[in-house]
Amino acid sequence: MLRFLTAGESHGQTLIGIIEGIPAGLELSSDDINHELARRQIGYGRGNRMKIEKDSVEITCGVRWGKTLGSPIGLLIKNKDWVNWSEKMSPDPSHADCILPETKPRPGHADLTGIIKYSHNDTRSVLERASARETAMRVALGAVAKKFIGVFGIQILSHVIEIGGVKSRVRKITLDNLIDLAEKSELRCGDKKAESMMKNKIDEARKKGDSVGGIFEVIVINVPVGLGSYSQWDKRMNARLAYAVMSIQAIKGVEIGIGFECAGKFGSEVHDGIYYNRKSRSFYRKTNRAGGIEGGITNGENIVIRAAMKPIATLYSPLDSVDIVTKKPFKASIERSDICAVPAASVVGEAMIAIEIANGFSEKFGGDSIDEIKRNYEGYIDYMKRI
Ligand SMILES: Cc1cc2nc3c(=O)[nH]c(=O)nc-3n(C[C@H](O)[C@H](O)[C@H](O)COP(=O)(O)O)c2cc1C
Repeated sequence: MLRFLTAGESHGQTLIGIIEGIPAGLELSSDDINHELARRQIGYGRGNRMKIEKDSVEITCGVRWGKTLGSPIGLLIKNKDWVNWSEKMSPDPSHADCILPETKPRPGHADLTGIIKYSHNDTRSVLERASARETAMRVALGAVAKKFIGVFGIQILSHVIEIGGVKSRVRKITLDNLIDLAEKSELRCGDKKAESMMKNKIDEARKKGDSVGGIFEVIVINVPVGLGSYSQWDKRMNARLAYAVMSIQAIKGVEIGIGFECAGKFGSEVHDGIYYNRKSRSFYRKTNRAGGIEGGITNGENIVIRAAMKPIATLYSPLDSVDIVTKKPFKASIERSDICAVPAASVVGEAMIAIEIANGFSEKFGGDSIDEIKRNYEGYIDYMKRI
């Protein structure tokens, strides 16, 4: 089983991550991870913080001479802004009175629910951990998972398909081409025309002190048949992927395959017929409306998942709120903020899906080393040809 934990506050000293269950013998370097961290930081509509950050990771344990040991892997990302926050976020009680508590909760954030739940008197004690800054570490841990499943040819790709109501409309284009265009786009969008309209929407929101959300799509290719199971509710791969994606800050909806669209169609328009290729000795589909999962099990087609992100909650024209001490109405305080973070969220989505696919892969082909997993995997591929 693969599991991970993150720790760290948005303006704390560091973000920390531990991932357990990665087999021994996997080649892993900080460059593999830094490449993914840089992808999370781009995007038209991001706030100033992205200019300060330039994240880089330190691998602190679990790797020796470029290869994983099979023990837990520890990662660390330093917050470059810590110099300006070392007293305000200090663990040392002698700094406790260095600033006044922040008492104006921002709607759409964990500020109010968090202070009530944890009996805090300062929204900073909540927002620092609730912030999506934590997703930098998820992306780092996801890079490790990507490296693992990459050995078996599994790739995780993503692109943005909607921002502020503007839809990408790419047709008759190969997946390779689409992803290539998305990787070069400031909004991770493969449709140039839509990208420029999306930028206009972001500019319009910025001018109004508002924000926009959108939809991204993650595609997993070369997934073997058989990850996940119908045998228990929490083993279903569709449920596990939805949970992984819904756990990302600001994600409010997830669909797999044609998702919500299937509810209004006839069954014949929804299900994917089964065919057999005698030459390659494999089953295949001509359509993939199921999005690569049937009965909670991967069916060998690409996994296709879309996630809806709400507009950023911190608004430069703030919404109504109430001071938690005086109970007087107030305009919610402004924390430095993105206007749109859908492209970044799509990279976080890739990371979360990579971790869950790697988890399903370990369950199915489990072993302590990459070599052992390769033997198990190859045996299974061989078995499939003999079905
Ligand atoms: C990559 C990423 C970046 C984000 N950046 C911001 C931001 O700059 N400002 C903001 O208010 N919310 C931002 N969010 C969303 C908030 O973290 C999120 O809405 C908030 O923590 C409340 O959680 P909830 O929306 O899941 O209820 C971001 C989310 C993601 C995934």
